[in-house]
Amino acid sequence: MQEVKTQRQVEILWAVLVGAVLWAGPGLGADPVRTGGDGESAVRIENLLERMTLEEKLSQLTQRSGDDIDDADTPEARQKTEAFLATIRGAQMGSFLNVHGAERVNRLQRVAVEESRLGIPLIFGLDVIHGYKTIFPIPLAETCSWDPDLVTRAAAVAATEARAAGIHWTFAPMVDIARDPRWGRVAEGAGEDPYLGAVMAAARVRGFQGEDPAAADRLLACAKHFCAYGGAEAGRDYNTVDVSERTLREVYLPPFKAAVDAGVGTFMSAFNDLNGIPATANPFILTEVLRQKWGFEGFVVSDWDSIGELVQHGIAASPADSARLAITAGVDMDMCSFVYRAHLAEEIRSGRISETVIDRAVRRVLKAKARLGLFEHPYVDPQREAQVCLTPEHLALAREVARSSIVLLKNHDDLLPLGKDLGTIAVLGPLADNRKDPFGTWAGIGGWGEAVDVLAGVRSAVSKETRVLHAKGCELEGNDRSGFVEALTVAKQADAVVLVVGEGQAMSGEAHCRTSLGLPGVQRDLVETVHAIGVPVVVVLMNGRPLSIGWTAEHVPAILETWHLGNECGHAVADVLFGDFNPSGKLPITFPRNVGQVPIYYYHKNTGRPPADNDGFTSKYLDTPTTPLFPFGYGLSYTTFGYADLEVSARKIPPGGEVTISAVVANKGKRPGHEIVQLYVRDVVASVSPPVKRLRGFRRIFLAPGETKRVSFTLACADLGLYNAEMKYVTEPGEFRVWIGPSSAEGLEGRFEVTK
Ligand code: BGC
Repeated sequence: MQEVKTQRQVEILWAVLVGAVLWAGPGLGADPVRTGGDGESAVRIENLLERMTLEEKLSQLTQRSGDDIDDADTPEARQKTEAFLATIRGAQMGSFLNVHGAERVNRLQRVAVEESRLGIPLIFGLDVIHGYKTIFPIPLAETCSWDPDLVTRAAAVAATEARAAGIHWTFAPMVDIARDPRWGRVAEGAGEDPYLGAVMAAARVRGFQGEDPAAADRLLACAKHFCAYGGAEAGRDYNTVDVSERTLREVYLPPFKAAVDAGVGTFMSAFNDLNGIPATANPFILTEVLRQKWGFEGFVVSDWDSIGELVQHGIAASPADSARLAITAGVDMDMCSFVYRAHLAEEIRSGRISETVIDRAVRRVLKAKARLGLFEHPYVDPQREAQVCLTPEHLALAREVARSSIVLLKNHDDLLPLGKDLGTIAVLGPLADNRKDPFGTWAGIGGWGEAVDVLAGVRSAVSKETRVLHAKGCELEGNDRSGFVEALTVAKQADAVVLVVGEGQAMSGEAHCRTSLGLPGVQRDLVETVHAIGVPVVVVLMNGRPLSIGWTAEHVPAILETWHLGNECGHAVADVLFGDFNPSGKLPITFPRNVGQVPIYYYHKNTGRPPADNDGFTSKYLDTPTTPLFPFGYGLSYTTFGYADLEVSARKIPPGGEVTISAVVANKGKRPGHEIVQLYVRDVVASVSPPVKRLRGFRRIFLAPGETKRVSFTLACADLGLYNAEMKYVTEPGEFRVWIGPSSAEGLEGRFEVTK
């Protein structure tokens, strides 16, 4: 005991000395974070490692959920909590998830730092996906802004609030490319495209981590789920993924690589089987790609129990097997399956794995703790939490992001924007007077009590004289049409109807997949019934995935895609409905006409028989066109933009050269607005069949009425490459086609050649 105390004292003294050196300023000692572990923190880590027992090491690799801490003031609850604290005191855990709130985190941290043998601080993780208290739009929605700076700012606010509540580490961004809207987790990512996905991955990492994740308003980020989780067969969560190595490299890996390049601190291994080896036991992706090729130096956490699940996958005969497979493949921390703690010591003692494998993982975890500054500053200031959450500035940004996320899908005869001085507006539908569902998936800590629904948003936007009427019409699900009568009675009195329909909060997200993509329940009937009375109808869609809304798209004059927008939903929708904000969002994912077209995405191969109307034996359907309902990159504005005068800087470019492609974009309407100008490329003939189009650049520009701008993109040869038959990334000589346009389906076309 005496010995333990002495060691602890030495440790504290040592920490104080190092802290003093670091505080002394530049020139006196290297920053442990920015030197990547070569400085004092590396010394500290080695010193700790030398003193740690094997059990203590395995604890650092173990993460437990704090869901079971019971705050009730009963003997049972106190006993349970004491048992919980004893595990921390006994250094059985290195990390927690699902514990939040400054007081509570400090309480657990105090036990780890002041009562455990080596005093190593805990790292607290949480799914801060699109906000902590101030809830921003779901990531898929935010991506519609095509505005990485805005997305960075939203992530920074989430980090500020969460860090003040004691969280150090977010399990975000989710950077899985998803091309199947049945998969409930499309809501959490940036859509179908690897280029846009990579830009957004980096933007989110920058927002969460900032320059220095140790700062009081930043978090460590986690790129997840590594990898190809979005490729789940049949869009069913956790299902098998079987993709070629080329598709893996071209489509699924780029956003992860972008996260590494942006300095992301951690990765999470995915649940899915990947070409026969579950991602959590896959040395190809976890070691060969992530460590050896990309040089990632952070740590990898498993997904929840994904190590234990290797037994169900059928590649491990026992939990001990699964622990050995995961750690040797490259998973450093075990989230909630506890097999590392239970079995790795025996695996080492029996010689099946070497302790150096464990040391390597522990070193990575301790390094992350050092990078977060936890050895110097393990606690948070409880005062700060209340001060920084849900501030007017955060809500203002949430409104800005929310309105930038809205996509105008249809606006026949310029029905929108509506006048604020209409006599009567009917706001109908199950999502109109609803603050909870627009929070979307993973909005756990956000309190929707403070949120603004569409009904309230409309009421606060219109003139004093305007009557705003409301009827629900129907529930989100079920067959009950009894509310239609009231909805019709209200609609008949109105000059315009705003009909808010779509999916509830729990219809997308993890394990929330659907086999139909239509409006759930009788909502589509409600739309038809209300539309039939002849009052102008604006459909406001809320959903976590693309929906097949063919009937609505054909008949209803105006449609706004608003996804799940979070706290400021109602204000943002009203801003767009009444023209205070000119919508500029563009889709990051294709909308299918029906579920039978899935997977449908713009970045597809041409096939040997591309669809042709006059030939039956081509790649098409008998009953549905092959084109989407709304293509990737699509979205309208209250003004119109014209594209003209495409220029390509050179007809021929040498290998390693560059080419600049530009076009003039004009605002031809009467309102100022933002346009998202997109650049697509096609390699005409290559050694492996190329996709018909690939996004290679975009710009969000602002144009006043009548204003024109030449928008230029410079592409290097390396931007035009592909993975050849030997899986080498090369740019092959030959002809390239390029387009600059407003979506993946339109644009001015040019050509150039890369010479030999
Ligand atoms: C999800 C992860 C999440 C983790 C922790 C898992 O079920 O797949 O995305 O980060 O739970 O909550």
